[in-house]
Amino acid sequence: MARGASYILRYALALAVAATCIAQEPQLVGTEVCQACHPAQADGFNRNPHFEPIDEDKQPSSQSCESCHGPGSAHVLGGGDLSAIIRFTELAPNQVLDRCLACHADDLGKISIRRSAHSTGEVSCISCHSIHSSTEISPLLAGPEKDVCYTCHLEVRARFDLPYKHRVNEGAIKCSDCHNPHGAPTSTWATASSRGMVRHAFGNDIACTGCHTDKRGPFVFEHAPVRAEGCMACHNPHGSTNPRLLSRPTAFTLCLECHNGAAPFGTRGGGIPNPTIGFHNLADPRFQNCVVCHSRIHGSNADPLFRR
Ligand code: HEC
Ligand code: HEC
Ligand code: HEC
Ligand code: HEC
Ligand code: HEC
Ligand code: HEC
Ligand code: HEC
Ligand code: HEC
Ligand code: HEC
Ligand code: HEC
Repeated sequence: MARGASYILRYALALAVAATCIAQEPQLVGTEVCQACHPAQADGFNRNPHFEPIDEDKQPSSQSCESCHGPGSAHVLGGGDLSAIIRFTELAPNQVLDRCLACHADDLGKISIRRSAHSTGEVSCISCHSIHSSTEISPLLAGPEKDVCYTCHLEVRARFDLPYKHRVNEGAIKCSDCHNPHGAPTSTWATASSRGMVRHAFGNDIACTGCHTDKRGPFVFEHAPVRAEGCMACHNPHGSTNPRLLSRPTAFTLCLECHNGAAPFGTRGGGIPNPTIGFHNLADPRFQNCVVCHSRIHGSNADPLFRR
């Protein structure tokens, strides 16, 4: 009999512990409960990709309000107790990241997000995305993409207003066509330092050749800098005062920056060939527009001097 009594005693104790646990650990209450007091956030939430209705067993699914804000029973019992609910606007950027990446981490496009310039610069998901007040359902941005970016990158806007530019401000192309705002993948031997969170399309090539496919190569005769340094050796990607988005006003100033014969550069160690020595007469205007003759400047399958 004594043994039975102690069993009942221990059982009661366990129950009491469980009960206090329940009282301390907030429980899920379900989207419908939240909706009663927060119609502004809950009404229409069924169109949000984060919505999923209460399931057949009348249990709140993992995709309801509480999947982000945490279990809400204590908040509700407290009549809206602010200390008992997760408020994103009060979280540190890395805490927001943790919360969102709980579900979004295994997505390939975001594998570098923690090392990205944005994360290290204390920019979090909700600097660009808005769960409740996005005007677009996909991908829940806080506004039109370029406007979101310009809130912080004002200096970039001016470059897209230069005479020669990619028409971002006109809506023809987006920042995210070239950049992955969630961070670029780890650098490899072929992508060098992988600056500027630039997208990598087609293996290790940078974003540019995804649209300018004729520059992708490989060519029988490669112009070394196109392959080794990439497009930015000669072009300004956003905009330029020079035609063809070139980084220099005339072709020959651009070319002669490298083609100056200075050793030990060049694949033969004797310097990158200097055309002002010999055949070319740079005093003759005919020779000044280099690309009139060297027209396949990005690489050629027919001529080692890129003339056809
Ligand atoms: C009984 C009404 C009630 C219910 C039910 C309720 N809340 Fe609240 N909630 C409030 C009140 C009131 C406030 C504002 C408190 C204040 O500002 O002092 C609040 C504040 C919040 C805030 C913070 C708002 C801010 O300005 O930062 C969040 C987030 C929130 N509630 C989420 C939820 C979620 C999620 C649920 C469902 C689990 C829920 N609430 C259920 C009454 C409620
Ligand atoms: C995907 C995560 C997520 C889900 C799901 C979610 N919220 Fe939020 N909630 C946020 C974030 C992030 C904010 C901060 C403001 C913003 O980014 O829009 C927020 C802010 C709020 C606020 C504060 C008011 C404000 O705009 O600052 C309330 C109240 C709220 N949410 C209630 C709810 C309710 C109710 C639901 C379910 C219908 C819900 N949330 C579902 C992430 C979420
Ligand atoms: C600097 C702004 C910015 C930040 C910070 C940011 N995003 Fe994005 N996000 C975007 C833009 C712009 C797009 C649309 C273009 C694209 O798909 O890359 C996008 C697309 C998405 C998409 C849909 C397409 C896809 O890639 O899956 C998801 C999901 C997403 N973001 C989640 C997140 C999460 C989670 C975080 C934080 C861990 C985050 N984002 C941080 C700007 C941002
Ligand atoms: C409980 C899991 C979960 C959490 C937490 C969560 N998400 Fe999501 N999110 C999803 C699911 C599921 C979808 C819909 C499927 C998809 O697009 O991946 C989605 C979709 C999105 C999309 C739209 C993707 C598109 O293509 O339109 C964005 C943007 C996004 N989430 C951002 C966030 C942000 C920011 C946070 C943190 C405030 C967050 N999510 C927290 C599960 C979650
Ligand atoms: C909330 C402010 C904020 C928003 C919004 C924002 N950025 Fe940034 N961005 C930063 C900060 C901070 C850095 C890191 C410091 C720096 O390099 O200026 C940065 C850096 C960058 C870099 C340079 C990365 C590097 O390695 O040098 C690129 C590219 C970039 N952002 C693109 C974007 C794009 C595209 C968007 C819109 C989808 C965007 N940003 C939205 C604040 C922001
Ligand atoms: C045509 C492709 C392209 C588009 C479109 C583009 N970028 Fe860039 N951006 C680049 C490249 C490539 C770099 C790296 C330059 C380098 O490595 O010298 C860069 C660099 C940057 C940088 C960091 C250094 C700098 O030059 O300021 C920021 C910030 C940036 N871009 C923001 C943006 C924003 C914001 C948008 C949209 C409004 C945008 N970019 C659109 C290709 C692009
Ligand atoms: C999303 C597609 C897309 C991507 C990615 C892209 N471009 Fe472009 N690019 C265009 C389009 C379209 C034009 C035509 C000009 C316009 O929009 O008015 C153009 C124009 C140009 C021009 C000027 C051509 C002329 O005839 O004046 C150059 C140079 C250029 N791009 C280089 C680049 C470089 C370098 C990159 C990578 C940093 C790049 N592009 C990435 C679509 C793209
Ligand atoms: C060695 C310098 C150099 C490099 C590197 C370079 N370009 Fe060019 N690019 C030029 C010159 C010079 C012109 C002007 C040609 C002309 O006016 O006929 C040009 C013109 C262009 C044009 C417009 C005319 C056309 O041929 O379509 C595009 C687009 C372009 N480049 C894209 C790229 C892309 C993409 C890359 C990287 C894969 C790249 N360039 C790398 C020098 C370069
Ligand atoms: C960023 C540096 C750089 C720029 C700018 C540049 N080149 Fe080159 N170019 C090289 C290098 C490096 C080689 C390879 C030289 C070698 O094999 O030693 C090369 C090779 C060549 C060759 C083949 C020479 C040979 O003997 O094989 C020609 C022709 C040429 N470039 C023309 C031009 C023209 C025209 C321009 C301007 C539109 C230009 N380059 C701009 C770096 C550059
Ligand atoms: C009128 C057409 C024409 C113009 C314009 C022209 N080139 Fe050439 N270039 C040639 C020819 C033809 C050759 C081959 C000469 C030879 O075989 O001796 C050549 C050869 C070269 C070589 C290889 C030299 C070597 O020693 O390997 C380079 C580098 C070069 N040009 C760069 C340039 C640059 C830079 C410009 C502009 C300042 C330019 N070219 C303008 C026709 C031209």
